[in-house]
Amino acid sequence: MEFKVNSECSEKQSSDCIVIGIFESGGFSPSAEKVNKISHGYLKGLPQNADLQGKAEQALLLHHVPHVAAERVLLIGCGKEEEELDERRYKKLIKKMVNTLKETGAKNVFCYLPELKVKGKDIDWKIRSAIEVIQDVLYCFDHYKSTKTLHALNQITFIVTPTQTKAAQTAIQEGIALAVGINEAKNLANTPPNICNPAYLNASAKKWAEKFKNVRVSVVNEDEMKKLGMNAYLAVGQGSKNESLMSIIEYKSDKIPAGTKPIVLVGKGMTFDSGGISIKPSQNMDEMKYDMCGAATVFGVMNVVAELNLPLYVIGVLAGAENMPGGNAYRPGDILTTLSGQTVEVLNTDAEGRLVLCDALTYVERFDPELVIDIATLTGACVVALGHHMSGLMSNHAPLAEDLLHASEQSGDLAWRLPLGEEYQEQLDSNFADMANIGGRTAGAITAGCFLSRFTHQYHWAHLDIAGTAWRTGKEKGATGRPVALLSQFLLNKALAQKQGA
Ligand code: BES
Ligand code: MN
Ligand code: ZN
Repeated sequence: MEFKVNSECSEKQSSDCIVIGIFESGGFSPSAEKVNKISHGYLKGLPQNADLQGKAEQALLLHHVPHVAAERVLLIGCGKEEEELDERRYKKLIKKMVNTLKETGAKNVFCYLPELKVKGKDIDWKIRSAIEVIQDVLYCFDHYKSTKTLHALNQITFIVTPTQTKAAQTAIQEGIALAVGINEAKNLANTPPNICNPAYLNASAKKWAEKFKNVRVSVVNEDEMKKLGMNAYLAVGQGSKNESLMSIIEYKSDKIPAGTKPIVLVGKGMTFDSGGISIKPSQNMDEMKYDMCGAATVFGVMNVVAELNLPLYVIGVLAGAENMPGGNAYRPGDILTTLSGQTVEVLNTDAEGRLVLCDALTYVERFDPELVIDIATLTGACVVALGHHMSGLMSNHAPLAEDLLHASEQSGDLAWRLPLGEEYQEQLDSNFADMANIGGRTAGAITAGCFLSRFTHQYHWAHLDIAGTAWRTGKEKGATGRPVALLSQFLLNKALAQKQGA
């Protein structure tokens, strides 16, 4: 798919379709006014019936509108004109547009929808969001299907005003990079667990890194983990035939001052979580291939950062492992000595993500990070708390939490902060070790966060629990690519601050 911007009057240029907005009151967007004029009042002369009420997300496809060069004119209902659009509605309109266009043979399309006013949003946001939504709707994981899905649509030109052109061009670049990152994250996440194991995560990172001179990939294998004392990480993978591998992707821009500390992203990369000896029920167990969505997110974000060549130093860690039952599997009752030296009593082998992450979080101390963010499909409890709408955010540093929440609002990839605290920490008390790996029935997302917080005293840290947001179940089953947009926005903001010398 190709995206362009143009500020020229394009009703006269030939294309397969132009897309314009109309309102419920019968009001026309500026572009609809223009098309109406060119067509000598054709639009206003259309019979007023149920097909054309301008109701939000209504679509009407017209063919051969007089004096308009385009094959088709697609009218998208934008709702009441006096109610300014909000971001969700805008994205829904774009979605409606793509879904309608998909059904036609239109290949190249002129889209005027970015002219619509969206509350608090500029042209940059409107273009970027449009690209994100378009790519999301067109995404399809058919790698393992005999017949592939094909659609004609291959070029979308956004029409903007001349003064908006420059901003819109930058927005296209950013939007495309973001869409690439989201797509890569989805592809990795959707790849089945018999293919996508820790070695596959590593190979994907290595292969991708070849394209960039400022990206390096290294790996910590089981032998090295043993030498280092990453016994919690190792315990999780010891029941699996697939070797645990922690992949490290280092991106360092040459535009950063000497001595810049890295931003470190750590992704849970459980390529399959059966629960281990505390085995999960079989219903929907296939979805535990998505237990590596944290790692997929990190990979996606590294894509965005490298594509945009952001003036940053970012290290991404893909904490790959597989949690399986077996003769060599770790057990409930085992006591593990973590890399930090703290001991953990395993009370449930299905609370494995925190065991892998705690050692990865200690490992990254060696990078002397500016801050560390871990991303993990960590708890079913987070889904109970926040549903599939928002990721759970926990942090030991309020300014970092604020920055992430701000980025989440800017991107529409939402997160909500949950507390951490002594009351909850006590739930992790163990009779036999420094802590247990579970904290009881209540506040499961928070006690998991508390567990991780015990390994992050050396730096500013935030934890994103994406168990509810990383994939969809049911008929629409598939990875969402979240929270690539949130973290990319966070890093774009960092890059901007860096450029402005803040
Ligand atoms: N990967 C799961 C969390 C999960 C479960 C995400 C369902 C999305 C949907 C994690 O490893 C896990 O099994 N967590 C347990 C923790 C419990 C044993 C304390 C959970 O949430 O049930
Ligand atoms: Mn588990
Ligand atoms: Zn898990």
